[in-house]
Amino acid sequence: MTEPKFIHVSVAWPYANGDLHVGHLAGAYLPADIFARYHRLKGNHVLMVSGSDSHGTPISVEADKRGIPARQVFEHYHERFLLTQQKIGISYDLFTHTDTESHHKIAQDFFLWLLEKGYLYKETQQLMYSEQEKRFLPDRYVEGECYICHFANARGDQCDNCGSLLDATKLINPRNKGNPADKLIVRQSEHFFLDLGRWEPELLDYLKQHEDHWRPNVVRFSQNFVADGLQGRPITRDIDWGIDVPLPGWEDKKLYVWFEAVMGYFTASVEWARNIGQPDAWKQWWYNPQAEIYNFIGKDNIPFHTIIWQAELLGVDGIYNSESDSIGQRVEAPLQLPYDVPANEFMNIEGDKFSKSRNWAIWLPDILDRYQPDAIRYYTAATFPESADSDFNWDGFLNRVNSELLAAWGNLANRMLSFSFKRFEGRVPTINLDDLTAEDRAILEKSEAAFDSIGQLLEAVKLKEALTQAMTLVRDSNAYLDRRAPWKTIKETPADAALAVYTVLRVIDNLKVILSPFLPFTSQKVHEFLGYDGQLFGEQKIVEYQESTRPHKGLIYDASAAIGRWEKSSLQPGQALREPAPLIVKLDPEIVDKERAFLGAPRDERPIIV
Ligand code: MF3
Ligand code: ZN
Repeated sequence: MTEPKFIHVSVAWPYANGDLHVGHLAGAYLPADIFARYHRLKGNHVLMVSGSDSHGTPISVEADKRGIPARQVFEHYHERFLLTQQKIGISYDLFTHTDTESHHKIAQDFFLWLLEKGYLYKETQQLMYSEQEKRFLPDRYVEGECYICHFANARGDQCDNCGSLLDATKLINPRNKGNPADKLIVRQSEHFFLDLGRWEPELLDYLKQHEDHWRPNVVRFSQNFVADGLQGRPITRDIDWGIDVPLPGWEDKKLYVWFEAVMGYFTASVEWARNIGQPDAWKQWWYNPQAEIYNFIGKDNIPFHTIIWQAELLGVDGIYNSESDSIGQRVEAPLQLPYDVPANEFMNIEGDKFSKSRNWAIWLPDILDRYQPDAIRYYTAATFPESADSDFNWDGFLNRVNSELLAAWGNLANRMLSFSFKRFEGRVPTINLDDLTAEDRAILEKSEAAFDSIGQLLEAVKLKEALTQAMTLVRDSNAYLDRRAPWKTIKETPADAALAVYTVLRVIDNLKVILSPFLPFTSQKVHEFLGYDGQLFGEQKIVEYQESTRPHKGLIYDASAAIGRWEKSSLQPGQALREPAPLIVKLDPEIVDKERAFLGAPRDERPIIV
């Protein structure tokens, strides 16, 4: 046994301005969940955190559109995020949000510390100002032609075409997104900047250290970002929804959402530690040079997670001590930088880009009403955009669920569990292990070897390949079973049939574990049908607790059941089974047209009650 590792799974924080969709799932949440579940099974200490990104203009835009306060928008979607992610089984140790008091406090501490150390500077900025609305326009409200690639509809902060981070005042023909007739002028305002450039040597070094194990597109993007010259980045904004700048005279400005949201990986870890009554527990990851921190994100978030967050971490290096309420309590170890940032590319839908405004989207709360969570998880993982954009299409969903998940895996398990239950008196056949044939042993050994080979793929975050190999094993098991055909031999040579049924049940017991990071709900059922008690994974709960003065809802998880279960089956001959039921629901081909009709059509959404 190797020593357990400390694995931190930091998952991108969804903006709480709309429901979660399959793009979120494919980009970050499902990969993170599969990875975290695997590491828990493997016996490692996993801390998986995220939360609702409650600030930023995406929230304000939605609030303006509905004519309600930003807080109400974020609270509404936060609540829905909790339910959705519980249903689809994203096993966060803590899913919180960025409007907690502790997040505000720590973000402000970080800001003050960076300021004190000289890593921030003040500068007067030229910004887009709306004469009509009498306010500075957040970058996202400004649209225009990208001055780098000349894409016509670049946002003020970032170009969705070339991925470059932009300066809104440099856009060609800038316009107010919500009000094209509005006259935009450039006006001055003073802001704090993060001095990125001073970290250039450290950042280059850091990227170099990781280039061999990071995904090539992440390395390339990040190295180019540094090579293009590291400009200081403004970290305050002229807006009214966000975290206060903790300095007198700055009352009408807030911290920039990206400056503080990435800190959530840290603040949520501290919050988690407090909740479990071990306020220092977060240090096992953040102050431990042996710990590995993984950031699961979509490719549009790369620079924030490979450069900017690193610069912040390098700057706050070692200051934070949870026992003290003020900054300046320098603790020995520096905070750990991410070990890997396995960014996924985009998942399109039926050949077209996700668009909230056109409702070209597949919303998780909607499809969770119609399909099994594991069917959605299976198809999404099988089409993960790990190295190129991929496509979610309903034909593909139908085919893969019916002919792979159901026909290959569901039927294998269901047929053999039923057969054994009916023909062997509700038990795993009672056999003598010494009697297993060479063919029986061969498939057993193959399924045992998969723990290592598939485990290695999961560790390397090659999740799609891991699933492909697990399904190859499923097919090999089906082929084995067809050759052994216990349903035929049971009459003439029942002892031989018993050997085959025993073998395949034990292979199924192995597959149950190997597939469980992908298909936790199905594996739990197989586990019970095989006669075992208890849970494969722990319990996931929505809880409400007091976060100093405000009540706060979060999603928590108790992983203890899962720890160390990445183990080969030692299924006992004669073990009592439970009566099995079908695992996977067969999909009707009609769903394809029905689902396609929802795309691009107006969507009914539960209104926010004002
Ligand atoms: N809310 C951002 C988005 O949806 C992601 C924030 S990730 C974090 O694109 F790093 F800031 F937490
Ligand atoms: Zn561009």
